[in-house]
Amino acid sequence: MRIDIITCLPKLLEGPFSDSILQRAQNKNLVQLNIHDLRQFATNKHHKIDDYAFGGGAGMVLMAEPIVRCIRQLQSERSYDEIIYMSPDGDRLTQTVANELSLKKNLIVLCGHYKGVDERVREHFITREISIGDYVLSGGELAAAVLCDAIIRLLPGVLSDETSALTDSFQDGLVAPPVYTRPADFEGHKVPEILLSGNEKKIEEWRFEQAVKRTRDRRPDLLDK
Ligand code: ADE
Repeated sequence: MRIDIITCLPKLLEGPFSDSILQRAQNKNLVQLNIHDLRQFATNKHHKIDDYAFGGGAGMVLMAEPIVRCIRQLQSERSYDEIIYMSPDGDRLTQTVANELSLKKNLIVLCGHYKGVDERVREHFITREISIGDYVLSGGELAAAVLCDAIIRLLPGVLSDETSALTDSFQDGLVAPPVYTRPADFEGHKVPEILLSGNEKKIEEWRFEQAVKRTRDRRPDLLDK
């Protein structure tokens, strides 16, 4: 899979992808992540990429021209399954959306900034808009990092234990059951006996019951679906 992220703040995206699972996924060539600095696609002398909003009002708007130049250059090299715009008014990112996007080959992710991007980019170039929640971030970069993490960890070979993404919260419509590690007795707080029994079938049943109970207690809305 290949993901091209378009941003006016490329430095913001250096951190999330340079450690742990996301770094390993790139080293193993399971994902190719490319970050494009929007400023490099500006044609004017000062590399200006934003301007005042027509009609007035506070805040700057990212101009269509550099964004479209960047998208067109990428599209001249390969075809893309989706051109995603990160925006608080997009469709909510869920495990189902991450699962679906993890099956794609090439994605472009555009990060907004300031007051957002010129509406004509959204109308004519963006194929999908995604929000990571009902709150406003300073820009789309951190949201893009969240989206990429949710997608990349699902790619075959990325997680060392291939089954572990399948047992994540939400994959079966339930939140995950509780987990424990050594010691079996921590300051008098004991691990549930069943987990020490070695009876795999019983343990599996216990985990399922716990997941259902936890979902009922914490996220009953998931059971309604
Ligand atoms: N950009 C700013 N806020 C955002 C959010 N909540 N989700 C996605 N992109 C954003």
